[in-house]
Amino acid sequence: MKKIFLLLAALGVVAATSPAAVADPASDLKNFQGYFKTKFPTVPFDDFANGYYYLPGMDSYREQWLLYNEFPPYELGLSVGKKIWDKPFTNGKTFASCFKNGGKSIAQYYPYWDEKGQKVRTAEMDLNDCLKKNGEPEYTNLDKDQKARVKLANLTAYFYSLSKGKRVKIDISSPGAVKAYEAGKKFWWQRRGQLNFSCANCHMELAGKNVGGNQPLSAGLGHPVGWPAQRLEWARLETIDQRYSTCNKNVRAKPFKHGSDTYNDLQFYETYMSSGLPLTAPSMRN
Ligand code: HEC
Repeated sequence: MKKIFLLLAALGVVAATSPAAVADPASDLKNFQGYFKTKFPTVPFDDFANGYYYLPGMDSYREQWLLYNEFPPYELGLSVGKKIWDKPFTNGKTFASCFKNGGKSIAQYYPYWDEKGQKVRTAEMDLNDCLKKNGEPEYTNLDKDQKARVKLANLTAYFYSLSKGKRVKIDISSPGAVKAYEAGKKFWWQRRGQLNFSCANCHMELAGKNVGGNQPLSAGLGHPVGWPAQRLEWARLETIDQRYSTCNKNVRAKPFKHGSDTYNDLQFYETYMSSGLPLTAPSMRN
């Protein structure tokens, strides 16, 4: 990472074209997806769901990726997630009882704006809530307790796998949802850290570039649809908040708390920007 820091500093990325201060989510979406369609005209829309592996010039990374997808290492974590999902609680109920349609084909609506609680809710939150409702211990201390976090990532991965291929559809029809969306959008465009980089600097401007010859940068379009994901380097399934936290640290900014409203709003924004893409989680990543 140190190397990336220096390289990016040397690149001296100037200013990402930030969007107009007032815009409605629908036209933001058009602009955001349009940006990538123009930047990468040869990439079919659905391939943005597969990270940087399908961006131009990434052929050797894609070949590798297809190879490790033949026996994906995340299968192990996914099977742990399935076990947790299937195992009855002390009261005899299971996770399926907490979700519409038994949890099948609903992950494309996550994260969502909860009118009653006036906040964005993620799949991780609803899974934890299900434990609480059924008198079971929740997964807590997720920043420090890697074991608990990975268990929750495994479970979330299984939850998402029940909706694989479903196209992202986020509802931003209420004023509260728009507000959360705006907060996420602000976070995406804001510069931070010692490097003074925004998410947009790396995942829009530098998308498709191979920083330092061995660190390709993905397009923001498609970002959340493969998560939870397993990075070769991490060798375990992880939550998207763990990825966000790593990206914050990359620019030497202080990460936010796992499950914080800040990260939830960010995920809400990023997921809305990926509207129409198929869910691919869990996925393999470098
Ligand atoms: C200094 C550059 C840099 C910045 C700034 C940065 N990231 Fe990243 N990000 C990376 C790298 C490197 C990776 C791993 C390769 C990839 O998938 O792009 C990554 C990966 C990701 C991924 C996983 C993509 C996938 O397909 O699996 C997400 C999601 C993500 N970043 C979100 C963010 C968000 C949100 C921000 C702003 C808070 C941000 N990043 C800021 C460098 C950066």
